[in-house]
Amino acid sequence: MNVINKIGVLTSGGDAPGMNAAIRAVVRSSIYNGCEAFGIYGGYDGLITGKIRRFYSTDVSNIIQRGGTILKTARSEEFRTEEGRAKAAASLKKFDIDGLVVIGGDGSFAGARLLSQEQGIPVIGIPGTIDNDIYGTDATIGYDTAVNTAIESIDKIKDTASAHNRLFFVEVMGRDAGFIALRTAIATGAEAVLVPEVEIDMEKLDKFISNEYNPKESGGIVVVAEGGEPGRTYKIAEEIGRLHPDYHIRVAVLGHMQRGGSPNQFDRVLASMMGSAAVQALLDDQKSIMLGLREKQIVQVPLNKTIKLEKSLNPELLDLITVLSTQRK
Ligand code: F6P
Repeated sequence: MNVINKIGVLTSGGDAPGMNAAIRAVVRSSIYNGCEAFGIYGGYDGLITGKIRRFYSTDVSNIIQRGGTILKTARSEEFRTEEGRAKAAASLKKFDIDGLVVIGGDGSFAGARLLSQEQGIPVIGIPGTIDNDIYGTDATIGYDTAVNTAIESIDKIKDTASAHNRLFFVEVMGRDAGFIALRTAIATGAEAVLVPEVEIDMEKLDKFISNEYNPKESGGIVVVAEGGEPGRTYKIAEEIGRLHPDYHIRVAVLGHMQRGGSPNQFDRVLASMMGSAAVQALLDDQKSIMLGLREKQIVQVPLNKTIKLEKSLNPELLDLITVLSTQRK
């Protein structure tokens, strides 16, 4: 069994609200358990170039409520190579760091798994991404806050949609996954949702919009998940506009505002629990796992599985949108 004395933490990939709460939990739990904590700046790039410093409890004071990440983040090309990972391992060795916590998405975990496999370094993953597209966990840190941000924005758009009887196509983030879109659509009472997991059927969408409710009388919202070719949301809106020149159509792209802002209580608590569990996992000699949330409990999932397996959308929620947005007399 390896003895763990020094624990490093980094954030990688797109930032997500709650990452700071996770960093705080890793640092404070490490120190509580008699270990030294180290902050690694700039994701894997910072690990490769040795941007590392010792962290004390006060270094993570007053950050739990802040969005972004005090450690900064990046997507590293060099870390994709074995050479880059060897340099990263050398940096860890230089600081005598014997366990690493990576807060990020599935791309970050692919690198984490290789680092552990090739260099024998124990690595624990904490799922931090607004996209919620990671197998093995019901929720990722930042997803809940991002959905709430999208909901707040769409609630505002609904006011103007209703005032002008306009049909809005609102694009939300999620990369190639529709988790943000689906939940946001249900919570805002949207007329329809388009997600990358389901092929778009323009005829069906058009029929639904023109038969089941009348945008000319009430306005409406179609939530569109990003994904596929750039500008897809504009193209869909144009297509519907061509079929119905009498509709007043607008497009709104919510963009990076979904990534920022103060994390809500759910993300703060989830991040705190996962940060602490990550330190515990290292002390328990775990070498290559991610922490997940399943039925309100923190669970350990092999990194291998989180990378290979795909998380799927709940089909019942997809059906629910159709049922609830149909306005028959
Ligand atoms: O993975 C988080 C995310 O915000 C995705 O939803 C989005 O597709 C992507 O990152 C945007 O990346 P960037 O900030 O590099 O434009």
